[in-house]
Amino acid sequence: MKLLVVGGGGREHAIIKKLRENPDVTEIFALPGNGGIAADATCVPIKATDIDAIADFAVRNRIDYAVVAPDDPLVLGCVNVLEAAGIPCFGPRAEAAVIEGSKVFAKDLMKKYGIPTARYESFSDAEEALAYLETVPAPIVVKADGLALGKGVIIAETRDEARAAVRSIMLDKKFGKSGSRVVIEEFLTGPEVSVLAFTDGKTLVPMVSSMDHKRAGDGDTGLNTGGMGTIAPNPYYTEEIARVCMETIFLPTIRAMNAEGRTFRGCLYFGLMLTPDGPKVIEYNCRFGDPETQVVLPLLESDLLTVMRATTDGTLDRTEVKFRSGSACCVVMASEGYPVAYEKGCPLTIPASVAPYVYVAGAAQKDGRLVASGGRVLGVTATADTLSGAIRTAYERVASIDFAKGFYRKDIGARALKAKGAQ
Ligand code: AMP
Ligand code: GLY
Repeated sequence: MKLLVVGGGGREHAIIKKLRENPDVTEIFALPGNGGIAADATCVPIKATDIDAIADFAVRNRIDYAVVAPDDPLVLGCVNVLEAAGIPCFGPRAEAAVIEGSKVFAKDLMKKYGIPTARYESFSDAEEALAYLETVPAPIVVKADGLALGKGVIIAETRDEARAAVRSIMLDKKFGKSGSRVVIEEFLTGPEVSVLAFTDGKTLVPMVSSMDHKRAGDGDTGLNTGGMGTIAPNPYYTEEIARVCMETIFLPTIRAMNAEGRTFRGCLYFGLMLTPDGPKVIEYNCRFGDPETQVVLPLLESDLLTVMRATTDGTLDRTEVKFRSGSACCVVMASEGYPVAYEKGCPLTIPASVAPYVYVAGAAQKDGRLVASGGRVLGVTATADTLSGAIRTAYERVASIDFAKGFYRKDIGARALKAKGAQ
């Protein structure tokens, strides 16, 4: 089978490595992939958002199955265009991907169907948004409606900060068209959990839970990033909480999307907060998380391609989706200065014994060597019977990598270990 994977980050590398475990897979094309993914797939320089060129490539190369991983092509309708060209796909169509593409849509869906989430109001008029701010207590959460590279959420500690956020999103158009509407919502507290789930629109199978570490610095300090590391499973996500989430959040979401005529197939990501009032949805994503995928897929025992195709064929109820017991840890190595300004071109040396456990997020090939080309550069992972074992091995692997201009958090998994100790 010839496969195509749209995207070019650490998440796509993890997906590609897992897909390669299926003996029927003869070739995988990554569009565009990256210099590290090139070790596991044929990289083709077509941008992930160039959906007509992607469909054209898929038809010309007789692709048997395509996996569309990132949010922007999904929201732009990459799956619709590929399907129209006769290529079966993993991922939601545009009409379902809107669950991530528009925060106003997601919030209105949750309100209409009684799915627990933070209280909110949405606005398309800046003056009305500013007037509303005067009526709610700080901290206040301000969110741009559309995709904003993970930067469209502002947690304002004071009303002044909230006003500045509304102005920069709606008037200065900091995120372009994504900011023509805003959601203003109540600030929630509690541990965060990421749950990715396979679904064919009828059946939903949650994957092992995980915990992201979004801030750049140790002890959850510094700026928000795309994610500096992950562990799985998340110790806060007990069996009892999983049961509550299935009944009050996961299944109601799938049913709600069906009722709206927007059946969701693919991977639905639930960003949850375990508040004192029970689990609530912080965000939906229409795709695998990054770097959650880098800890979830190494724990998947079943064949990924078989499960993905079952979400397309509507046969997920008859397909085994099994995770091994044990834990996984992923430590992200980023370029110094990330997430603000960072240098590109620093050489990287990854020992051959460690390479199978490294997912490359932002690196290019230059003169036969791997060099850093992005903010987040590597996701270094390990699995073990225990969480502490996975963390230890992941950091040993990090220490063996030569990346002079790189940095990483030293405390990935520390909070999870503490929570485990407390249980
Ligand atoms: P997002 O970009 O939607 O993933 O949001 C970024 C982060 O902002 C989330 O992971 C949460 O930590 C935080 N966040 C978003 N919404 C809320 C909320 N209503 N209350 C508290 N924190 C929030
Ligand atoms: N790690 C967060 C996300 O993928 O959106």
